[in-house]
Amino acid sequence: RVTQTAAYTAPDVSVEPRAATVRQGESASFRCQVQRGAQPIQLVWKKANNQALPDNVKTGPDGSVLTVANAGPENQGQYRCVASNSVGRGSASAVLNIKHAPQVRLTPVGPLRVRMGEPVSVECRATGRPRPTLSWKRQGSTLQLVTKETNDVNTIQVKYEHMRPEDSGVYICQAENNEGVAKVKVEVIVVGQPGAPVASVEATEMTVVEGHTITMACQASGSPPPVITWSKLRAPLPWKHSMVGGVLTLTSVGRQDSGQYICNATNIHGYSEAYTQMEVESPPYATCLPDQVRLQPGDALHVQCLSHGSHPLQFEWSRGERVSLPPGAETTKDGRLRIAHVKLSDSGTYKCVATNHIGSSEALAKVIIKRELVFGLRQFKTSVKITALTRCSLFNLLMFYLLSFCFFLQLNPTSGCLGLLPSTQVNS
Ligand SMILES: *[C@@H]1O[C@H](CO)[C@@H](O)[C@H](O)[C@H]1NC(C)=O
Repeated sequence: RVTQTAAYTAPDVSVEPRAATVRQGESASFRCQVQRGAQPIQLVWKKANNQALPDNVKTGPDGSVLTVANAGPENQGQYRCVASNSVGRGSASAVLNIKHAPQVRLTPVGPLRVRMGEPVSVECRATGRPRPTLSWKRQGSTLQLVTKETNDVNTIQVKYEHMRPEDSGVYICQAENNEGVAKVKVEVIVVGQPGAPVASVEATEMTVVEGHTITMACQASGSPPPVITWSKLRAPLPWKHSMVGGVLTLTSVGRQDSGQYICNATNIHGYSEAYTQMEVESPPYATCLPDQVRLQPGDALHVQCLSHGSHPLQFEWSRGERVSLPPGAETTKDGRLRIAHVKLSDSGTYKCVATNHIGSSEALAKVIIKRELVFGLRQFKTSVKITALTRCSLFNLLMFYLLSFCFFLQLNPTSGCLGLLPSTQVNS
């Protein structure tokens, strides 16, 4: 009789277990069991509101088992097993709870500057399962602050109608469940008296490249509206500046313009300062010292690469077209190039590239290595160092003596003596 009835009834299903709770990352499964109903019966799992099943949720071949692998907060909720046959449909559902440690978020995030006597309110919103308990405390105190009721059970709000100077401080919202604890802090600063100015700058720090034009904006609240002025710490404002409505413009900044700029907002109730630290950075400009050097084989070569520009600066030496330096060449981090004993083959142009984070610059050093033999005698080692200039002077000296000699002999210059002088034209 039972089978007879079953043959003409809509399916009746149940789900085991009815509810499951797992931690984030764990798995869970539910079985949908047919109690009765006319065969064939088709089973389909659905999420509440007929949403599609997430990717990590799978059903077995006959549709009876639903498995959630590596569960995440998005798997939280109700799952429904729907059975249908030729007579009708039946369904049953189960709830999956994913436990996770709380996460908290504040609105606004702070730090908050509040004028004396004015209200302040900060909302702390938490997620987590089981539902975390929330509390507000002041840093350094264990007392829980009185909070305002909100419509959302996951949010608590701390609110003060009239802030007093002693209310300045750090406030902490804590959310706790048995999976963990989360805390967020907000700093509240109570300033001035009613109507006193509160100045703020757009950027407290800025870095600019040399030669650029920059603007620094300062805003101030207060009643009556405060007068805004800009100044520079321990220095006058750069010569090329202009100030319009709280905005300071510096044209073509140089490195000497780096420093702290102070915005001062003043009215009858007082004044308020805000600061912008500005750094001017410059690209490198490299030079070689010396930029030309003449040596003989065996001498030591020392060249220093120097560079202006923002630090840190890096120096790299290379040789003309060739990438690598000759063997035996040493370089240092601060730009020195050294070859203890040069060889003839070390002649050439050496290149130093100075680099910082803005750019690079190169400088060349010409190295001439020649064997200079005067009279071919090794012992005249000092004479070897005669430079082109002194050799030229020696030639002039020789000429001078020759001329003096000619006049001393009272010879007709055209006739003979001066004819000895090379490449000299004398007209009579
Ligand atoms: C800002 O203005 C006030 C009042 O005029 C003055 O006492 C204070 O020294 C000023 N601060 C700076 C940095 O100029």
